[in-house]
Amino acid sequence: RQMKNYRSMKQTIHPAGSLGGTITLPPDKSIAQRAALFSLLSSQTSIISNYPKAEDPQTALRCVEQLGAMVTESADTVTIQGTGRDGIINTPGVIDCGNSGTVMRMLSGILAGAGVEAVLTGDDSLKARPMKRIIDPLTQMGATVHSEKGGIPPLHLSRTGFLKPITFRLPVASAQLKSCVLLGGLFGEEPTKVIETVATRNHTEGMLRLPVTRQEGVTIISSYRGLSIPVQSITIPGDFSAAAFWLVAGSIGRDSEIFLPAVGINPTRCAALHILQRMGADIEISNRKMSGMEPTADLRVRSAPLKPVEIHSDEIPNAIDELPVLSVAMAFANGISRITGAHELRFKESDRLAAIQEILIRAGIHVEVENDSLTIYGKTDRVIQSAVYDSRHDHRIAMSAAILSLRADGLSEINHAEAAAVSYPEFWSHLDSLHQ
Ligand code: S3P
Repeated sequence: RQMKNYRSMKQTIHPAGSLGGTITLPPDKSIAQRAALFSLLSSQTSIISNYPKAEDPQTALRCVEQLGAMVTESADTVTIQGTGRDGIINTPGVIDCGNSGTVMRMLSGILAGAGVEAVLTGDDSLKARPMKRIIDPLTQMGATVHSEKGGIPPLHLSRTGFLKPITFRLPVASAQLKSCVLLGGLFGEEPTKVIETVATRNHTEGMLRLPVTRQEGVTIISSYRGLSIPVQSITIPGDFSAAAFWLVAGSIGRDSEIFLPAVGINPTRCAALHILQRMGADIEISNRKMSGMEPTADLRVRSAPLKPVEIHSDEIPNAIDELPVLSVAMAFANGISRITGAHELRFKESDRLAAIQEILIRAGIHVEVENDSLTIYGKTDRVIQSAVYDSRHDHRIAMSAAILSLRADGLSEINHAEAAAVSYPEFWSHLDSLHQ
């Protein structure tokens, strides 16, 4: 998805009276991309049910195809015949990772481990994102990775011998970085170990069944060639990150009730659920089940008066993608809310600290941003001014601005609304369906 070529779409948002209905969420993007990439590493045939149609997961499929996997799609099921660790095409050329940081960072680990010569590139947003964080450990393992000046893509990987194992303490709480190093480690004779002091999403270690030890709040995850790669025949659960938009919409809407069946509620993903509950949100959790390694539940949200909340750095990684829409919830809380230690928001699909600040200011909400913290002056009975927002080509900013607009005094507009399709192509029609 090259932003400059992509047709720009403008969305008009009507203020909501009450919202009601059932939403079938898009399948989890984070899990789906892993399922595709790990299927490449397996020499068996993985059958993945409920595979998303969203752009990022589709990008992951095109990448593994280019690397030698056989991909067939029928309805919502994707079948992937992998190449195994040693069968990856070793001169694939230029691989386009689109808008996906997850695909680029995880593929870098895989391709460096396999000793493949390739160029990894992406759209304008991805080409601005920091890659030094993965280049450093991969170089330490003996890989050769060249980037553009400043450590940004395209990344040029050269053919190397086997990677050396390393013990790596995560310098930033990033699941993408953790996954990159562990995937490189899967090609080494001796174990590579990643040490995590702040928990980040654990889908990679779960789906690859990597050995994990935990001691006094420190987690150590290992990978090496001796581990076999499990077949990735799973059903992808509903995306909690997508659910978060409706949890906020239902909470701040008047007389609203929204039902969200089969949502992934992995604890390393759903801190936003607990944050909203701390704010006083009325969220009913029922029908808890396991979908393979991942817990799921049905969520029902009803309107509720919200209280202000504080979010600190230890909670940030498990709510990282939900912070934009949580900021919207904070604008309608009864007092001052604060997010601290959120520096990583600067390095997402856009600078999300700046983007949140901009959309709140446009709505007439008092907000302060200082380094890595955000202070939002909330009001329960607030009616915001209708405004024109820009998504900055960032899917989560487009959708957060839409939820904010539900409480406007008239029509609002969102430019570059097409960005939502990166993770949630049905978002606009789902939003329409909730208006009562
Ligand atoms: C992701 C991890 C997070 C998140 C991103 C998806 C993943 O990024 O923001 O949307 O699938 O591992 P970081 O790990 O870089 O924080």
